[in-house]
Amino acid sequence: MSKKIAVYPGSFDPITKGHLDIIKRASGIFDTVYVAILTNSAKTPMFSVDERKDFIKRSTEGIENVVVESFSGLLVDFAKKVNATVIVKGLRAMSDFEYEFQMALMNRKLDKSIETMFLTTSGKYSYLSSSIVKEVARHSASLDGLVPDCIINDIIKKANSKN
Ligand code: PNS
Repeated sequence: MSKKIAVYPGSFDPITKGHLDIIKRASGIFDTVYVAILTNSAKTPMFSVDERKDFIKRSTEGIENVVVESFSGLLVDFAKKVNATVIVKGLRAMSDFEYEFQMALMNRKLDKSIETMFLTTSGKYSYLSSSIVKEVARHSASLDGLVPDCIINDIIKKANSKN
């Protein structure tokens, strides 16, 4: 039987516990999950692509079927390149829905062979976002429970150097 490969795309600036929860759950469903970091986003990131990649790799250590990559251009082209047939997205609340729905429809128009699958975020992470994490870090408040423990110090160091 052919292997089921999924892509979980995002900016991951930085990865949060909400992202990690989706990665873990997706890794239980698919044979391989590519965590794909968008490199050419219009947003100005706090962390370089290499830093974001390193954070995700350290956070997913021990999950055998997770591969961390970066991509530019269209997501469906990256998915095709790695033979993925599913795009995994996490849905937090209704506020995410409109944009995600639009992207899912556009991606389907671009490539009918790739399906978008939404996983609902665990309730305890439903308020989390990378932006909120950065805001909290800039004000030197605790990041416990917001991002994977192994990257907390790196985030605090970077946020303080930018103050
Ligand atoms: O974490 P983010 O910033 O919400 O992730 C957004 C991302 C990377 C999933 C989205 O911007 C994306 O897929 N960009 C690639 C460009 C693309 O394929 N656009 C067409 C579909 S709308």
